[in-house]
Amino acid sequence: MPTAGWWDALWPNPAGVLEAVGLRRDMAAIDLCCGDGWFTLPMSKVAASVVAIDIDRNMLEAARDRLAAAGATNCEFVEGDAYELARHMRGPADFVLMANAFHGVPDQPRLADAIAKALKPAGRLAVVNWHQRRREETTILGEPRGPKGELRMSPEQTIASIKREASYLQAWSSCRPITTRSSWNALENVL
Ligand SMILES: C[S@@+](CC[C@H](N)C(=O)[O-])C[C@H]1O[C@@H](n2cnc3c(N)ncnc32)[C@H](O)[C@@H]1O
Repeated sequence: MPTAGWWDALWPNPAGVLEAVGLRRDMAAIDLCCGDGWFTLPMSKVAASVVAIDIDRNMLEAARDRLAAAGATNCEFVEGDAYELARHMRGPADFVLMANAFHGVPDQPRLADAIAKALKPAGRLAVVNWHQRRREETTILGEPRGPKGELRMSPEQTIASIKREASYLQAWSSCRPITTRSSWNALENVL
């Protein structure tokens, strides 16, 4: 998880991202690999309920603190492995967000399968990824940021890796809206 500062600069409007990828009121939502809760907090303001999951206890504590400070009461925090997602759920969800994390998953089809099992039949998975560009081209606050170039995925690659195992997932999205929405738009065309 990157340090704060440039993360805020990268994601100045997390609520806008959530709206764009389809989070709606009354949804039971999951913030998978939630980190320190940068997206979890705005999720909790829209969704009926949120389950925030991360394997890193310190990250989860930071998320818990962030939401507590904001007075959010509809979020449950789970320390656990994303592959075991279904085991951590009390019931199926409407929406899963995976922000800034899918590119680093070693077994993406396995994770897609786990997510599909945790979602309702018409549920939605939104994957927010970095653009598939050279790292030197994605500078934030004057420095190259984000995953190594070989880890970056196009929207089409993201969809293909999910679809292989979970063809019944309804929709997903991929974007990095700091300077341009081109990846996002490409994906909209694919759906
Ligand atoms: C770059 S951070 C992104 C955090 C958050 N989604 C955001 O965009 O602000 C990636 C997070 O994934 C978590 N993570 C990595 N592998 C995981 C796994 N197998 N299960 C659950 N969380 C995992 C890390 O602990 C880290 O907090």
